[in-house]
Amino acid sequence: MDECKVIIMGFGAVGQGVANAISMKKDLILEKTGVAVKVVAAADSSTSAISADGLDEKLLVETKNNEGKLSAYPQFGCEKSGEEVLDAVDYDCLIEATPTNIVDAEPAFSLTLKAFEQGKDVVTSNKGHLALKFKEVVGAAEKAGVEFKYEASVGGAMPIINFTKETLSSCEIKSIIGILNGTTNYILSRMTTEGTDYEATLIESQELGIAETDPTQDVEGIDAACKTVILANSLLGIDATYSDVIVSGISNINSDAIELAKKDDYLIKLIAEVSRENLRVSPRLVKKGSSYDVGGTLNMATIHTDLAGDITVMGLGAGSLETASAMLTDLISILKNKN
Ligand code: HSE
Repeated sequence: MDECKVIIMGFGAVGQGVANAISMKKDLILEKTGVAVKVVAAADSSTSAISADGLDEKLLVETKNNEGKLSAYPQFGCEKSGEEVLDAVDYDCLIEATPTNIVDAEPAFSLTLKAFEQGKDVVTSNKGHLALKFKEVVGAAEKAGVEFKYEASVGGAMPIINFTKETLSSCEIKSIIGILNGTTNYILSRMTTEGTDYEATLIESQELGIAETDPTQDVEGIDAACKTVILANSLLGIDATYSDVIVSGISNINSDAIELAKKDDYLIKLIAEVSRENLRVSPRLVKKGSSYDVGGTLNMATIHTDLAGDITVMGLGAGSLETASAMLTDLISILKNKN
């Protein structure tokens, strides 16, 4: 393989991050893998730009930002969307970055299955289909004999899924405990250090582009619960789904609670626990100065293993280029396996 034709499906913060990252890193990818990456289509929720000869990544981002829709892309913009785009042009890999839907996992679920049926590899940042139908989606990829990678679905730029599967492959994973949502960590950190109020800080995190399209998913713990299920299935081999997670969010945490905790050198954090006994997301008191004491949009996770003891990873858990970095790493890994 000397060329990889990709479709970027979903053109919000993450999809645009992928376009920007490809533009910045295509020479590096060619050097590392011998494969030239070409974006042959990009689609937002109702329109797209499609060209078998390749699209300009920067112009895609500019068009979306200036005109609000990809159909305004010069010459190659059109009204096709979703599955129609997968039929409209030949491609090798679907980069799936549509918003997470925790009710029925669409459109990610159908798009992903269709790409598998077409014999295409898929890289995703989406959590809905993984949290609701992990076994079904992973099983469909195996049956189709294609690659399916989802590092970006948990922890943005923080390495956890590939790291644990590959670098810790000699170990049994006993449990994983950590902070898996950047938005709530940002809100709680700002409330703790600056004394800002909950509503205003939530609006700030939306402006930063780190909150979900529906920020209730962040503050009610839904996003972290999805990630808990993904880690449980992919790293602990637990056959779990979203409804198996006990979830409470941070919308009831007020400044008084934060101040009270601070007096005793504690912080309040939204903690996710992934173990065979417990799948749980809840606000908990953690000691100031402990490994849980990470601020801003950072995520962290301590992986308890049998042989290696505890390993703690930390990194930016959300953001356009940060999440795109994980997707590009997955793409590079697919390309290396092919050559
Ligand atoms: N809204 C998510 C977060 C984005 O704040 O962590 C990354 O999954």
